[in-house]
Amino acid sequence: MAQDAPTQQHAHTAAVITLSDGVHHGTRVDKSGDLLEQRLASAGYEVVVRRVLPDERTELAALLRSLADDHGVRLVVTTGGTGLGPRDVTPDATRDVIDREVPGMAEAMRMESLKKTPFAMTSRQVVGTRGQTLIVNLPGSPKAVDECMDVIIRVIPHTLDLLAGKTEHR
Ligand code: MTE
Repeated sequence: MAQDAPTQQHAHTAAVITLSDGVHHGTRVDKSGDLLEQRLASAGYEVVVRRVLPDERTELAALLRSLADDHGVRLVVTTGGTGLGPRDVTPDATRDVIDREVPGMAEAMRMESLKKTPFAMTSRQVVGTRGQTLIVNLPGSPKAVDECMDVIIRVIPHTLDLLAGKTEHR
């Protein structure tokens, strides 16, 4: 996609985390993780980590802390586990680790997604920051990944600049 064209400006490291008991147990294919990795790579991000986790709050929180604090990954995007199922804990684990929430980014994704499906209102997806790392939750379907990435992909580079202290206005 043209809007994803790589530029030097956002050659940042990124991690893709899929939250799915099914993928983790090998009964489902990680199509959403594949798509997310492609979208990030084509936008110029270096995807340095790709992980599949079961829907376990403490496991995800530990991975998010480690990626941000020990590995300095600048952008962490999760897919799955944002809904209302009893095992959906991605937003809760994200809230456990973020310093600041970025409600506008999550609201923008939900607002645009509502134009595609009324079920968008059931996603509890969260966006937040931990130090200089931006953590973004996306719903689990490949369609949702594509639609949500369309909404935020152009905003992420400036967000990462701001987190790194480059605060000049655009
Ligand atoms: N958002 C977009 N853009 N497109 C979608 O198809 N699906 C919704 C919603 N958000 C959807 C979407 C559906 S059906 C669900 S159940 C919730 O995301 C939560 O999905 P998750 O539990 O897989 O994270």
